[in-house]
Amino acid sequence: MSFKEKVIYQIYPKSFLDTNQDGVGDLPGIEQKLPYLKRLGVDMVWLSPIYPSPQKDNGYDVADYTSINPMFGTMNDFDSLMATAKKYGIEIMLDMVFNHVSTEHEWFQKALAGDKKYQDYFILREEPTDWVSKFGGNAWASFGDTGKYYLHLYDITQADLNWRNPEVREELFNVLRFWMDKGIKGFRFDVINVIGKDEVLKNCPENDGKPAYTDKPIAHEFIRMMNQATYGKDAEIVTVGEMSFTTIEDCILYTNPKREELNMTFNFHHLKVDYKDGKKWTLMPFDFEKLKELFHTWGTQMSEGSGWNALFWNNHDQPRALNRFIDVDNYRVVGSKMLASSIHLNRGTPYIYMGEEIGMLDPDFDKMEDYVDVESLNAYQELLDAGKSEQEAFKVVKAKSRDNSRTPMQWDSGEYSGFSQSAPWLGLGKSADEINVAKELQEGSIFTYYQQLIKLRKEYPVIAEGSYEAFLPEHPQIYGFVRRLEGHSLLVLNNFFSQETTIKLPKECLSGEVLIDNYETKSFEQELRLKPYQTIAIYY
Ligand code: NOJ
Repeated sequence: MSFKEKVIYQIYPKSFLDTNQDGVGDLPGIEQKLPYLKRLGVDMVWLSPIYPSPQKDNGYDVADYTSINPMFGTMNDFDSLMATAKKYGIEIMLDMVFNHVSTEHEWFQKALAGDKKYQDYFILREEPTDWVSKFGGNAWASFGDTGKYYLHLYDITQADLNWRNPEVREELFNVLRFWMDKGIKGFRFDVINVIGKDEVLKNCPENDGKPAYTDKPIAHEFIRMMNQATYGKDAEIVTVGEMSFTTIEDCILYTNPKREELNMTFNFHHLKVDYKDGKKWTLMPFDFEKLKELFHTWGTQMSEGSGWNALFWNNHDQPRALNRFIDVDNYRVVGSKMLASSIHLNRGTPYIYMGEEIGMLDPDFDKMEDYVDVESLNAYQELLDAGKSEQEAFKVVKAKSRDNSRTPMQWDSGEYSGFSQSAPWLGLGKSADEINVAKELQEGSIFTYYQQLIKLRKEYPVIAEGSYEAFLPEHPQIYGFVRRLEGHSLLVLNNFFSQETTIKLPKECLSGEVLIDNYETKSFEQELRLKPYQTIAIYY
């Protein structure tokens, strides 16, 4: 099956299912829930990092790329998970964090101890530049007592690797070979578009230094080398690059098959439409016009350039999309389905983030002590330093924190919602008693809606393969698009608001059939009235 037909499910292992009652999810927990994932119908499961790590950034600070963090289990547990997944016809995608390693990684430790070979694994300079770390503060830190500085685009414990050194590249390619030998069929590459830094590092006040290391031609070259040396040899392997502050032009280059780089890219532009002046730690209702424009330009241009999008609303770095785009107090269920349709019927490969299939919400924490994420804690301090009151700063963190999506999976209405029998590492969502898998499977309809969407992708080639065009004329409440393939068309209309509205359908689709919608519409007329958050897909 081509990567275009697949649906991928993301698991944040720490929060999925705890089987040894230490409050942290584990690999046997994932294995135990494979029948659930099979029932949902997903083809591949992406695991956020499972490697040894001091967990300063929840595993995105890797201390050893080819072992399993004891917190999650053993290599035997991993092998067993792989074997059971195979039985269920589910493939596994691993997260490759290749821009940086934990400062506890032996490469960094050896470098610190004076080993020249390993010092050249990192980006060391006599003088720091003015670049800003993505988690706040300057992006350089003192390298022991050498008088030098090492670059860390993320946390101070995440040291950037020197991809210009061929030995570093070979080490990383060996990591991929190791996991490929274990039967891994997917790789998600963390912030892979920042691996190519300028050769001469200069101050770059523009955009916190990003132009000096983002989407550089050399990053494309490194990715192509990686492709040719490793996964490019196995056509079944699916690759997705996570892109920080990227452009459409670059994403076409990363994903156009002729370039031999990656299958698809995650970009985040559509999840910044509620950032005031482009800044994350602010509060603003989402800008629908901007959202639509982004979907249209990415949809059309990626299609024209033979590029491929990874489609998603949620992941472990984002607050739940339901809380951002939907009036969840009144329309959580229909809203969940509308968001799902707008992605799953779009042009690209859809990703489901754990809990999305049951309409999980942000946890609704009441105090700063409930948060553990390094980025959120830093941001809170920066907001206070900038003169915000504690109350104001808390309000922003509550809306924006990455912990919003990292709370334990809500399995049932037991004490720790079936996630564990001990207190979890991060608090549970307040709505766990009402929103959980057991209840959803018994009386809910979001899970079945996702099942349907996944099935449709396999049955109607226009969904996986069709081109993309904006549905015109633009409507102030509706995001509409048309997919076309070999004489078949699919019109998808999504009302992003809680007010009803009317839209005029094109004549050609009047004899078409409703493939899926969230209000059980059986028939329709040219003047179509869309209910709050209604989504409808017409095939003709
Ligand atoms: C992106 C990951 O998704 C995020 O969780 C992490 O903090 C950064 N990259 C750094 O690895």
